Amino acid sequence: MLNNVLQRRRRSLDGPWHVIVDPYEMGYIGILGDRNDRGFFRDHKPRHSADRVEYDFDLSPTLVVPGDWNTQNERLMYYEGTVWYRRRIMVAADEWRGDRQFLHIGAANHTSRVFVDGDELATHSGGFGPYAVELTGRLDPGEHSIVIQVDNRRELDRIPALRSDWWNFGGLTRSVDIVDVPETFLRDAWLTMDPSGRVIGGTTVDGDTGESVRLELPGLGVSTVVNGQFELDIDPGRWHPGTPVLHDVVWKVGNDEVTDSVGFRTVEVDGTDIVVNGEQTFLRGISIHAEAPSGGRRAHGPEDAETLLGWAVDLGANFVRLAHYQHDEHMVRACDRLGLLAWAELPVYWGIAFEQPEVLAQARQQLDELVVRDRSRASVIFWSVANETLPSPERTAFLTDLVDHARALDPTRLVSAALLTFPTGSNEHIIDDPLGAAVDVVSINQYLGWYYGDRETIADNTWRSVFGKPIVFTEMGGGAKAGHHGDVDEIWTEEFQADLYRRHIEMIRAGRSGNGGEIAGMSPWILKDFRAPVRVLPGIQDGYNRKGLVSEEGERKLAFEVLQSYYDEFSD
Ligand code: GCU
Repeated sequence: MLNNVLQRRRRSLDGPWHVIVDPYEMGYIGILGDRNDRGFFRDHKPRHSADRVEYDFDLSPTLVVPGDWNTQNERLMYYEGTVWYRRRIMVAADEWRGDRQFLHIGAANHTSRVFVDGDELATHSGGFGPYAVELTGRLDPGEHSIVIQVDNRRELDRIPALRSDWWNFGGLTRSVDIVDVPETFLRDAWLTMDPSGRVIGGTTVDGDTGESVRLELPGLGVSTVVNGQFELDIDPGRWHPGTPVLHDVVWKVGNDEVTDSVGFRTVEVDGTDIVVNGEQTFLRGISIHAEAPSGGRRAHGPEDAETLLGWAVDLGANFVRLAHYQHDEHMVRACDRLGLLAWAELPVYWGIAFEQPEVLAQARQQLDELVVRDRSRASVIFWSVANETLPSPERTAFLTDLVDHARALDPTRLVSAALLTFPTGSNEHIIDDPLGAAVDVVSINQYLGWYYGDRETIADNTWRSVFGKPIVFTEMGGGAKAGHHGDVDEIWTEEFQADLYRRHIEMIRAGRSGNGGEIAGMSPWILKDFRAPVRVLPGIQDGYNRKGLVSEEGERKLAFEVLQSYYDEFSD
């Protein structure tokens, strides 16, 4: 991992890349199944008139990076397979200030291989976490060819696996940069606050590890030497939802210097309450997919983040569930700035091959990427290791392993997973999913009045768990087509959806922790309609999940106001 990249000197490789669509993977695998040594990664040009080279990147179309390929070319909308990306760069004589260079990829869905000047350097699996490849000594002055093979195939032994209720956007979906650093540099440096209010942190120096790291918080008059894991005896102004206080941070080692902006807050549970900075805090949330505010493409960058989160702020939310995978770093940094609490999640979603050790290894790797990149973000209060996985001994062992791993990486935040709920035929719901014993918060997806249960009696339902922990509704809701109006009993109308929300709010009001219940928060499904291949109802869904409070183009539905007025009741 190479962290704090957004604060580092880098050469952006964003923009158009020439691409070759390669459904049969001929660019890598020869007809005998071995590696094709004249493959596309060589970026060859005919050397003489009789030289048979059956591809040419320069004459091939382009795709813009960052971005998914599905929405950039209609013929790739449903494409699942390999696409080769190629960028040629000219390196100037005085290009690099540092002695070492890394290729940093914000995200590539799903599996990607990196080649420079025809040499294969690295493979990465996982479509949502960042990774870096060292290129030191390979980028001398002159022209170089960077080729990245990306495939977004769905496989049973991948994470996520074969099915999801979101579009399987493929490609280099986040920024690609060459990061320029000194011989000795800070590969990772983080700061956070534990539940007891202690400021703790850690550093990972790459290069001369004997060099000491200096940490400065100018606004707090702190300038001290730190190394590895440490504790700072300070009592900084707190970051709090709605009042986000951020402190400037400067890390120095040798010739390396990297800055950051960090908030400090405590988060813990107390019985069935979630407590932030010692204050019982009801999570007024909304779930969000990483899909752009309009155009139905994969979201990336600061503008998409500001717009989506701006809608959440308008809703009166103090919490966002970033579903179901690691979102762009710009998203969590915007949560820090906007004072929104955040839930970060792994795409361990629905049917996963829990019995396979190599799949657990993938999940652990993705968890490392999730935690290491974002553990300095005050806004992030939850690490979620899964969503809607059917209980089984293999599954619970797999997820408990991840819960323990998350705590080992970061003991300062809450760990949870979104649990499935099933119709019981009773209005009394007792959550006893065995995973509830391992997590800090019992987070449940419930769809009363939509997938099951009777809409009219939603308010009569009660929710408890056998664990005496806070309950958060990580999903609830129903669909409506924006602009489709009609009777409150007519499904897909805005009136139906709004009614559903009113009834759920009534149930939550009655069942809130501190009000005799155990409900400590909610993040209804979902802020915005989003693309989903399993949603095919013509005239209504047309490839979109319609449970958004706003349409795919940002039009607000009636339910937006219903939830907004409920959140308005909470006077901060
Ligand atoms: C599930 C799932 C979501 C999905 C939603 C729905 O609960 O977690 O990813 O989109 O239900 O059915 O709309």
